[in-house]
Amino acid sequence: MSSLVVSSLSVSRGGLPIITEASLSAASGEISVILGANGAGKTTLLEGLSGVIPVEGGMIAIDGAEIQSARPGVRARAGLLHVEQGRTVFRQLSTEDNLRVGLHADERLETAYALFPELVQRKAVRAGLLSGGEQQMLVIARALLGRPKVLMIDEMSAGLAPVVVTRLMTAVRKLADKGLAVVLVEQFAALALAIGNRAYVMRRGRVVYDGDCSTLRRAPDELHRLYLGG
Ligand SMILES: Nc1ncnc2c1ncn2[C@@H]1O[C@H](COP(=O)(O)OP(=O)(O)OP(=O)(O)O)[C@@H](O)[C@H]1O
Ligand SMILES: [Mg+2]
Repeated sequence: MSSLVVSSLSVSRGGLPIITEASLSAASGEISVILGANGAGKTTLLEGLSGVIPVEGGMIAIDGAEIQSARPGVRARAGLLHVEQGRTVFRQLSTEDNLRVGLHADERLETAYALFPELVQRKAVRAGLLSGGEQQMLVIARALLGRPKVLMIDEMSAGLAPVVVTRLMTAVRKLADKGLAVVLVEQFAALALAIGNRAYVMRRGRVVYDGDCSTLRRAPDELHRLYLGG
């Protein structure tokens, strides 16, 4: 069983501490949902995990192997992939060429098209011309072709129509059901809690809730309090 274990992780930006002693985990077959208000530190946490920003302290392990001191490329090869906030496609390249960029030697493009058949008819279209939903499918599919063990997705649903969000959530659930460990950072708390397993709420760079998605889903008042504090 693949897994990500993060313990007491601290991350700074420009000398300012942003993430303070965050601990969480993500297991094969599960979705770990990370919630929190704007500026709570969700993106900074993922950037610390993928190695975009060096960490100040703490441990990050994939299948028991510590990677907190490794460079981003090494972490990716260890199986930790990050789908960044903002759907960063290569706008001038076709959909298919975007997919080729992330392709692991032993993987086939069909894997991406099987997950998102919507992309088949958009193969030759420049990625900059795709809809927001199609671009999100593209960046998730591209990451998947890198054969991750743990896939971290930041703000997948931002700015998308509810029907598209539901489609993406279903696809991510399917990936987890096939054995991927998913870390899902979301603003759409209700939907994310409906498909997720473990839930974490962040506030001011700290993890202030760690429990089951189902428990938090049944307690909207508690969720509200966790977001706002007090
Ligand atoms: N490049 C940066 N330099 C310094 N501080 C930053 C930088 N980017 C973000 N911050 C600060 O770090 C804190 C956490 O920001 P972060 O983007 O990680 O939060 P977030 O939870 O992802 O928010 P959002 O929901 O808006 O995406 C905020 O206080 C923010 O102002
Ligand atoms: Mg963010």
